[in-house]
Amino acid sequence: MLSENAKAEIEQLKGKYPDPKSALLPALYVAQREHGWLSPEVMRDVAEVMDLPPAEVASVASFYTMFNRQPVGENLIQVCTNISCSLLGAEHIVEYLKSKLGIDVGETTPDNKFTLVTVECLGSCGTAPMMQVNDTYYENLTEEKIDRILAELAERKG
Ligand code: FES
Repeated sequence: MLSENAKAEIEQLKGKYPDPKSALLPALYVAQREHGWLSPEVMRDVAEVMDLPPAEVASVASFYTMFNRQPVGENLIQVCTNISCSLLGAEHIVEYLKSKLGIDVGETTPDNKFTLVTVECLGSCGTAPMMQVNDTYYENLTEEKIDRILAELAERKG
């Protein structure tokens, strides 16, 4: 369920566009920020506030990979495996992360700290191989860099 605050924020967003429907993407961001992912219930709430059919909201949410339609851990690790990253070792980066975290791609660690997924190009090909963790890009990845990043993230309070 969306909080009253989130609903009010979405109402405000609707007022910023000539066509209130244009606020759908930012509205979904508000919902995801609050819940970490977009459950069917949350999407229904967004649809209600946006005055849109639930199916339209669900189809927009499923089109964009930045919206999580399954629960994710505190840190969503998205490793780019597209061409530039792949040529510079993305597969090895994925294997290294899998072994460090003890999970497979698409899984979350038992402590709910990390979810590992692979994604298409994140537009940072010049600094491949790279990954995005939540809203932060980590580039020119090496095993040592990954060790440091994971240690830092594991220490952060959720
Ligand atoms: S190919 Fe990895 S960021 Fe573009």
